[in-house]
Amino acid sequence: MFEKIAAAPADPILGLTEEFKADTRAEKINLGVGIYKDESGNTPVLATVKKAEAVLLENETTKSYLAIPGTPEYGLAVQKLLFGADAPVIADKRAQTAQAPGGTGALRLAAEFIKRQLGEVKVWVSNPTWANHNGVFAAAGLEVAQYSYYNAETKDMDFDAMLADLQTANAGDVVLLHGCCHNPTGIDPDAGQWQQLAALVKEKGLLPLFDFAYQGFAKGVEEDAAGLRIFAESCSELLVASSFSKNFGLYNERVGAFTLVGQSAEQAATAFSQVKSIARVIYSNPPAHGAAVVTVILNDATLRAEWEQEVADMRVRIQAMRELFVATLKEEGVDSDFSFIERQNGMFSFSGLTKEQVNQLKEEFGVYIVGSGRISVAGMTRSNMGPLCKGIAAVLK
Ligand code: LMR
Repeated sequence: MFEKIAAAPADPILGLTEEFKADTRAEKINLGVGIYKDESGNTPVLATVKKAEAVLLENETTKSYLAIPGTPEYGLAVQKLLFGADAPVIADKRAQTAQAPGGTGALRLAAEFIKRQLGEVKVWVSNPTWANHNGVFAAAGLEVAQYSYYNAETKDMDFDAMLADLQTANAGDVVLLHGCCHNPTGIDPDAGQWQQLAALVKEKGLLPLFDFAYQGFAKGVEEDAAGLRIFAESCSELLVASSFSKNFGLYNERVGAFTLVGQSAEQAATAFSQVKSIARVIYSNPPAHGAAVVTVILNDATLRAEWEQEVADMRVRIQAMRELFVATLKEEGVDSDFSFIERQNGMFSFSGLTKEQVNQLKEEFGVYIVGSGRISVAGMTRSNMGPLCKGIAAVLK
């Protein structure tokens, strides 16, 4: 039976990691997948995660199933992180959260909820967007439309084009927004632009869905929620898919959350009952460990402060790499202006390198970046910067 099956294409991001691992060259550099590396090129377990794990090891009494949405403590901790500890949506019980297996699991819950409960609506994603967005929404049977986001000439956001495209959306359509550290461009709306977007979404009766995977990597844990909080003030209904892979370094624990905000506590609870039914038939109930770690850290004032410092350290190192990257490219004789990289947020930079240049970097220099030209700055170190920039200078000639 299987002889009729054709091979699936490799994943543009995770497939690249497999290729990288198989590469036997000692000097290879992986700037594909968004994984934080420290100055030695390692992805260590955060110190606060180790401390929380010690607490759990000591106190855990059972491995019994969690409830379908995970624990209420986790749900509340996630909501406080998203909306602020004193947010009215929390006090009014208009938010409901389900722990999900990673950010992707949360997005898939969102997609299934939209498809099954909201009818024939489109999901609008930015052009460009994270490579897996299209796949996740298509897998749930949703139609995906694109809104303009990036201007390749100015290497900046094309905000007017974004607004113009969203003006053509129909009431009920879903707009996917990146909470911060837009993946892949690293370019986020400013406060005024968030306000305008929220006004447009409200006026047109669209449903905002935030993909929030990098909270803390742009300006700070609280600061990075500014856009979402503007929306939470003006839109009575919204959805959020959170990931804690990056800001807690819990990549392989698959810790995420799907949060639904309704017009009233009652409507939110009813809608959320459908989310539970969806989770039940996909993965039944979530894995416990990673979410328990996040809960311990967020609910302990000392650990929380230490964690915020760890996130700040990651953020500051990445920013330093952005600056060093731009300076080293100059030293290597690259004439084109790459200073836009210093203005972008988060792990990624949209370099403007072509598919051919990306391929040449891999073949000739062992430098792995995503085909779109997206570079994970989080994988740069002081020691790989020289060879990396030499390679880029060579392919730009
Ligand atoms: C990325 O964009 O590199 C990460 O979000 C990892 C992934 O799953 O693609």
